[in-house]
Amino acid sequence: MRLLPEPSAQSLRLICLLIFVMGVAPSPVMTAGCPDRCVCDDQLVVQCSGQQLIDLPRELPLATRQLIISNNRIKELPALQLNYLSDLVYLDCSNNSLTEISESTFGNLRKLAYLDLSFNNLAQIDDRTFGPLGSLVMLRMTDNPGLSEIHPDAFAENAALQVLDISRNNLTSLNISTLIALPALRSLGLSGNPWRCDCDTEDLCLWVQVEGFKFQDEVRTVCRGPSALSGLRLAEVGMRLRMDCHQMLGYWDYLFFIGIGFVIFSAGTVSAWVMGVLMVLYERYDKRKEDENEDENEEGGAGEGGHVGGNQGNGHLSKPAMEV
Ligand SMILES: *[C@@H]1O[C@H](CO)[C@@H](O)[C@H](O)[C@H]1NC(C)=O
Ligand SMILES: *[C@@H]1O[C@H](CO)[C@@H](O)[C@H](O)[C@H]1NC(C)=O
Ligand SMILES: *[C@@H]1O[C@H](CO)[C@@H](O)[C@H](O)[C@H]1NC(C)=O
Repeated sequence: MRLLPEPSAQSLRLICLLIFVMGVAPSPVMTAGCPDRCVCDDQLVVQCSGQQLIDLPRELPLATRQLIISNNRIKELPALQLNYLSDLVYLDCSNNSLTEISESTFGNLRKLAYLDLSFNNLAQIDDRTFGPLGSLVMLRMTDNPGLSEIHPDAFAENAALQVLDISRNNLTSLNISTLIALPALRSLGLSGNPWRCDCDTEDLCLWVQVEGFKFQDEVRTVCRGPSALSGLRLAEVGMRLRMDCHQMLGYWDYLFFIGIGFVIFSAGTVSAWVMGVLMVLYERYDKRKEDENEDENEEGGAGEGGHVGGNQGNGHLSKPAMEV
């Protein structure tokens, strides 16, 4: 009885939560029931499609494995609510009004294998958005008319990904450096995007050309710009871009070589000039030395000190005389 007053309101609330969770968790479908306007079955499928929902249904059974909330007007996926559903394998959010997916939205959905975000209003996909989804096998994210940016590393951690469909968005380019490294990827949908076929999409175009079989609807994966390439298939322009884009590199190479040439030329000129000056100086010095020797010879012809020098001097003197 003395123990009762001690727990604060907070810990009481915790205990209540614990009792609630213990009561609910073992058979949530039975005890928590099914959310309003949804249909639940004992296979842990919760189906709330086409119910004009504007929010994620509350009190979703915690053991839900399939959640279908397509064809509503849901504006956001609250991370807190969604991440209780740690057994979720299948999530269909297509045809809603989602504008943003945050880093924490899918933070705890490690078993999720299928995700559909098509027909929403997403504008960009950041680096970490799909990071926690290590089991994701299929991602459909088509028909988001404003989706124009996908971070290069957005799919870097989805090693299980086999099918990725990002058709009919507003993508003009896509950095494929991490996508190309995904070990399981076997199908990719890119059609219906306004691809800008320039050097930024060169790698993408070459990829489509080399592994065309991977690309769904490849004939409709075409360039929107520049006008010279408009309407051509990405696979058709791959080699062309490769040549054009590397000519650009050649241009810089030429500049580099011209620069290097100029430096070598300048260095050569300067060193030739220095050499010339040195030679002139040496010649003058040599001549002076010879003159001195001559003088010495003339002065002390019979002297012992001048004897050796005299011989050298004569030797040197004889050569110019013969040359001239
Ligand atoms: C999207 O959902 C609405 C109902 O909310 C429906 O009328 C419409 O046909 C759906 N569109 C698609 C592409 O499924
Ligand atoms: C698609 O992107 C372009 C810019 O690349 C932008 O001008 C246009 O408004 C976007 N379309 C939509 C529907 O948001
Ligand atoms: C693509 O993304 C990778 C990794 O973020 C980066 O290193 C690379 O420079 C990018 N390539 C292009 C062409 O932007």
